[in-house]
Amino acid sequence: MFPIDLSGRKGIVFGVANERSIAWGIAQALSRAGARIALTYQGDRLKERVKSLADTLDGSLTLPCDAADDEQIAQVFHTLKEEFGDISFLIHSIAFANREDLDGQFVDTSREGFRVALEVSSYSLLPLVRHAAPLMTDGGSVVAMTFDASQRVYPGYNVMGTAKAALEHSVRQLAFEYGEKDIRINAISAGPLQTLAARGISGFRDMQHAAAEKAPMKRNITVDEVAHTALFLCSGLSTGITGTIIPVDAGYHIMAV
Ligand SMILES: NC(=O)c1ccc[n+]([C@@H]2O[C@H](COP(=O)([O-])OP(=O)(O)OC[C@H]3O[C@@H](n4cnc5c(N)ncnc54)[C@H](O)[C@@H]3O)[C@@H](O)[C@H]2O)c1
Repeated sequence: MFPIDLSGRKGIVFGVANERSIAWGIAQALSRAGARIALTYQGDRLKERVKSLADTLDGSLTLPCDAADDEQIAQVFHTLKEEFGDISFLIHSIAFANREDLDGQFVDTSREGFRVALEVSSYSLLPLVRHAAPLMTDGGSVVAMTFDASQRVYPGYNVMGTAKAALEHSVRQLAFEYGEKDIRINAISAGPLQTLAARGISGFRDMQHAAAEKAPMKRNITVDEVAHTALFLCSGLSTGITGTIIPVDAGYHIMAV
C-alpha cells in the first residue's frame, strides 16, 4: 500500500504544461495516494495535452485557468465547488517572466516585464488561496513552488528571483492569516529540474551541473522527490507545519563554497 493515504480527499493542481512539469509529478503522486484531482491549464494551446494527462488519473477534472485573469479564477472555483464540493489541498506551480527579462542585465528589466513576472508568479497565489479557502471546510494545505534565487543571486534568474522572494513572503503572510482556519501554506524550494520553464533561464544547464557538484548529496534532485514532499505537506503527517519553505535540493542550500 502507498505509505500516505489520501482516499476521499480532493484538491486542485495549477501549473501542468506537459509530462515534465513539476505540477504533473505532484498530481500523479497525490492521485496514487488516492486523492481526486482537478488540473488547470493555461490557454487552449495546452488544453489537449493536459487533458490527455488528466485522463490517466481516476476521476480527474480539467479546467482552463489563466492566473492573470480574475474571471477565469472565479470560474474555476465555481466549477470546483459544483463538482468536488469541498477540497483539502491546492498546488501553485506557476511562474512566468518575459524571455528578454531572463537574460541580460536585471537593471534593464522593463516596468511591464517586472509587473508581469510578479503578477503571474507571486500575486496569483493570493486570489487562488482567497477562492480556495471557503472550500477548505475541514482545513487544508496549500503548496507553492519556489527557488533559492529568492535569497541569493543566480545570474540569469533576474526578475524571477524577485518574484520568488515576493512569493515566499506571501506564503508567510498567508500562513499567518489562515492559520486559525487550519489552512496551512508552505512552499517547496526545489533544486534545478529540466522543465519547460527551466529552458527559459539562461545558463540553466551549467547551473544544474554546478548544483550537482556542490550539493552534499553530489547529485541533482528528481521531480518525484519534490512530488513526495508535496504529498507529505498535503497529508496528515505535516499538520504542524505552516509558513515554511522546505528545500528539496540534495542539501545545496547549506553550502557556502
Ligand atoms: N524547474 C526548476 O528547476 C524549478 C526549480 C524551482 C522551482 N520551480 C518552480 O516550479 C514551478 C513549476 O515550473 P516547472 O519547472 O514545472 O515548469 P513548467 O513550465 O512545466 O510549469 C510552469 C507552469 O506555469 C504555467 N503558467 C505560466 N503562466 C501562467 C499563467 N498566466 N496562468 C496560469 N499558468 C501559467 C505554465 O502553463 C506551466 O504549466 C514554477 O513556479 C517554477 O518557478 C522550478
